[in-house]
Amino acid sequence: MSIIRLADLKQYSDTLRTRHGEELNVRFVEPRDADELQHYFRSLSTRSRYNRFFGAISELPNGLLHDFLEVGERERFTVVATMMVDGFETIVAEARYALNAETATLEFGLSVDDRWQGHGIATALLKNLECRAAALGAEHIFGDTLRSNETMLSLARKSSFAFVNHPDDWKLVRFDKEIAAAPKDIPCASWRLAALSRQADSPSASA
Ligand SMILES: CC(C)(COP(=O)(O)OP(=O)(O)OC[C@H]1O[C@@H](n2cnc3c(N)ncnc32)[C@H](O)[C@@H]1OP(=O)(O)O)[C@@H](O)C(=O)NCCC(=O)NCCS
Repeated sequence: MSIIRLADLKQYSDTLRTRHGEELNVRFVEPRDADELQHYFRSLSTRSRYNRFFGAISELPNGLLHDFLEVGERERFTVVATMMVDGFETIVAEARYALNAETATLEFGLSVDDRWQGHGIATALLKNLECRAAALGAEHIFGDTLRSNETMLSLARKSSFAFVNHPDDWKLVRFDKEIAAAPKDIPCASWRLAALSRQADSPSASA
């Protein structure tokens, strides 16, 4: 069973800013985004796609596209960061995260459109993910990256993640950060609502 009211997903969106102040809307992906999301992945450079998926793919295989669109299924969520470009809402970044309630960890992967890299989007999105992790009750947030992915390593370092070897794959590095229990300064006010709605939905809270 899902832990949040999926019918209300639209209310859980956040407004972030690039380094230069442009506005980004971070929201859960919706079924209507299927084509646009696929277009986003096709438009990534070969290198960015390789770094995101640890392998050479030209687009999301159908099964994976389906998984990306199933928000909340098995505690996995996809968010897109969109901007208005020439009057159209355009996906400029995405992130997928999975909560493991047993270990109180949230694992994530993310990417930013090549044309928008270096604008502080991933930095802002990462902070937002930390807040979402806290709202879901995670105590650690972590991701894996190829050892060769200097950009991701640098981003993780600047965002105060610690590095460990990947348990199964020497080509990967795991970066991990402990989550502050009460994230006051992270811009995801809507996620406090989500956390509250989660409590309200849980049987123990209503008993
Ligand atoms: C890794 C990635 C998400 C970073 O996104 P971004 O929005 O460009 O990152 P930011 O602009 O927030 O930059 C954060 C830091 O990353 C580092 N960085 C950004 N661009 C870089 C580049 N071209 N070369 C080296 N380091 C770079 C810098 O340390 C930067 O901090 P600074 O600007 O204060 O120096 C993006 O490059 C990407 O989508 N790569 C392909 C997918 C991927 O690798 N995903 C990670 C594995 S899941």
